[in-house]
Amino acid sequence: MPTAPPIYLDHNATAPLRAEVAEALARALRDLPGNPSSPHTLGQAARAAVERAREEAAALLGAAPRDLVFTSGATEANNAALRGVLALRARPSHVVTTAVEHPSVEEPLAALEAEGVAVTRIGVDADGRVDPEAVAAALRDDTALVSVILAHNETGVLQDMAKIAEAAHARGVPVHADATQALGRVPVDVAALGADLVAASVHKCGGPKGAGLLVARRSLGLAPLLRGGGQERGRRGGTENVPALVGLGAACALAARELPERGRRWAALRDRLWQGIRAAVPRVRRNGSLAHVLPNTLNVEFEGAEAEVLLEALDLEGICVSTGAACSSGSIEPSAALLAMGRTRVQARASLRLSVGHGVDEAQVDRVVHLVAQLVPRVREMAP
Ligand SMILES: Cc1ncc(COP(=O)(O)O)c(C=O)c1O
Repeated sequence: MPTAPPIYLDHNATAPLRAEVAEALARALRDLPGNPSSPHTLGQAARAAVERAREEAAALLGAAPRDLVFTSGATEANNAALRGVLALRARPSHVVTTAVEHPSVEEPLAALEAEGVAVTRIGVDADGRVDPEAVAAALRDDTALVSVILAHNETGVLQDMAKIAEAAHARGVPVHADATQALGRVPVDVAALGADLVAASVHKCGGPKGAGLLVARRSLGLAPLLRGGGQERGRRGGTENVPALVGLGAACALAARELPERGRRWAALRDRLWQGIRAAVPRVRRNGSLAHVLPNTLNVEFEGAEAEVLLEALDLEGICVSTGAACSSGSIEPSAALLAMGRTRVQARASLRLSVGHGVDEAQVDRVVHLVAQLVPRVREMAP
């Protein structure tokens, strides 16, 4: 085993908890024992902390605090958005989405499809982008929702949500954006996006795992996914996870303060990584749009190499990367997103995701470039 500490380039799977957030969490665990629904002093203190977190998150998103519903993460928020809108619509109805959604959108939609909802999945171009006009063309009189991933978890590709929302709103259709990978990395302003529903987790940007949110415009009819207890103004039942929400608020406040600088710093690290790899390794190419992409994400095809083998070889050297969505790793199926972009199965299997974030520095990037340059030729030799 290597003696140096691991180099973590898998921030799109999850990011390490920021020290400030860990302290806020620890304080909440120790000092806030009450139930936010209790009227006594300890309950009120917990309620105040939850509402402060709501204000911090709402400020980062440019949303009204009362439109924000806390959840156990983006998976719950996505399920709540999709089911919540569809539950109130007459069947049969119709949803427009994309071929590159995260499983926390794709799987609930597939379940709704089995229940009789029609689903149109719009393809993407070779850069991983959705054409807003294709979304507009797919809208029908019975379309109840448009659901689009804002920033892709594997490629980091950003969609033109404002244009997509404009097309949907012209037909009176609400829009759901999965902003999980974007939050805390690029500005996510609900009004600028034009989305009616915005879902996210905070563990991709230094917050705790198991804490997330759904921004849902009050004017939008939304049936609760979880009933019982009446918390979150009846929109999500269950006693609030107070420490996790305090951590969520702290992570959002930190993001709001650091956002422009984060983008510059991470883009510089990502570009250094790419320039280094490109200079040292022949037959590589970047997957996804270069212009419309998260600052922290690099997805590279190493032609003729098995990315799973490269991942393991890098792991033995203490480097953590990913071959695709962490949520579905363990499966050897090539990335559906890369296939949707027109890559072959072999090309998709040769692609590696490297995602930077807080704590990564230039020396680490240079070490990764050095190791990738050493390992790729060996991995290529091993290819069948
Ligand atoms: C785009 C996207 N949506 C949703 C999720 C689900 O987030 P969580 O596992 O925190 O519920 C993820 C996590 O990988 C993601 O990348």
